[in-house]
Amino acid sequence: MYETIYQQCDLIVDETLPPISNIANILAILYHELENINWAGIYYCDDIKQQCILGPFQGKIACTKIPYNKGVVGTAAQTRKTIVVDNVHEFPGHIACDCSSNSEIVIPLIVDNTLYALLDIDSIKFNNFDKKKSETLQQIAHILSLLVSKESAYTHLP
Ligand code: SME
Repeated sequence: MYETIYQQCDLIVDETLPPISNIANILAILYHELENINWAGIYYCDDIKQQCILGPFQGKIACTKIPYNKGVVGTAAQTRKTIVVDNVHEFPGHIACDCSSNSEIVIPLIVDNTLYALLDIDSIKFNNFDKKKSETLQQIAHILSLLVSKESAYTHLP
């Protein structure tokens, strides 16, 4: 199932479109095609201000600014490492945007050592992101990294 979703994400990218169009469609695939997902989106990273800013997403209204080192998103920005949280209620400082979230994965989108953004996916199911799913999401995150690195929204952060 996850492999098919990777292929859909790969196929939907149309290089003649602005990157944001492709990013939006990939997030729609993740939100609608993965099981038990209640939020899928991007946070842009501003290394100078040390904060993450809400980007395109599918799901409920979300926190717009997250300082580095706060919550799962800010911790992933600070450490530049993928974070899989099997139970968000046990993660110190977890920021609850949607109270139906029970597990979460945050993957840094890095190209040439620049951290552009983070892919954040929340699940209503505990332990939703096992090894196989996490690996496929890393592959999808690679597609998103290339798109976000080309996107003008990143260079126009306020
Ligand atoms: N749960 C995240 C905040 C973002 S929402 O999940 C969309 C966190 O703890 O950083």
